[in-house]
Formats: sequence, structure tokens, C-alpha cells
Amino acid sequence: MTKAGPKYFPTAGHLLVCQGQSCQARGSQLLYQALWQALDREHLAYYKAGGQVRLTGSGCLGACSFGPTVCVYRERAGALEQGWYAAMDFSQALALAHAVQEEADLPAEHRYGPTPQGTAQGTP
Ligand code: FES
Repeated sequence: MTKAGPKYFPTAGHLLVCQGQSCQARGSQLLYQALWQALDREHLAYYKAGGQVRLTGSGCLGACSFGPTVCVYRERAGALEQGWYAAMDFSQALALAHAVQEEADLPAEHRYGPTPQGTAQGTP
């Protein structure tokens, strides 16, 4: 008899909200908590029926002077897509989560780093 493993939840993307010191000084703890509550309430969280979004608090994402920093990874058109965001507030982070849930283009506002076209845009 084999022992059952952990349940796997397929998702459309994974958001990371920096919980490093500099981002926390700019409100990232509250952003993380509020975003979790919204994902749960709006059934976007991966453990809700139909939910497609994972959310994790992360260590420093390397844009400390421009936080709260958020990044997202997802598979799109058979490739790994990444989105990097600086100075995020709750409504912007929730819009990002909705884009992941709906498999829509990632928002351009506050985005820096690589674009889907493979070119770098802006600096944080
Ligand atoms: S502390 Fe958040 S990017 Fe460094």
C-alpha cells in the first residue's frame, strides 16, 4: 500500500510579495495580509473552487529602495513569464492577481524588468 502524497493544486501563476526589511518599512506586511484576504474573499486563491493564484511572502527581491516589491511567475504560451513590480499598493497588487486569474496580460503600471517581448523596461 502506498502512502498518499501532498495534494497538488494547479494554478495560473504565483505572486511573491517581498517581506524584507525595506519593503516592510513601506507597508509590505499589510499589503501581503490584505492581498491574502482579498484572494480568499474573491475566490482567487488556489485552494478555492476555481481559484488560480498562489501568493507567498518572500525575502528580499532586490529592489529595496522602491518597495513594496512584488513579482509574479506564470506559464504563458508555453513559456515562463515573469513580471516585476515596484511601489505596489493594494489595488495594484489585486489587479495583478486578477490578471493572473484571468490569464490576461500583466498590468504595465509600476512594472520594471523584462517584458513579454524579452526587452528590459524601466528601473525600479
Ligand atoms: S527588502 Fe524588498 S526588495 Fe529588498
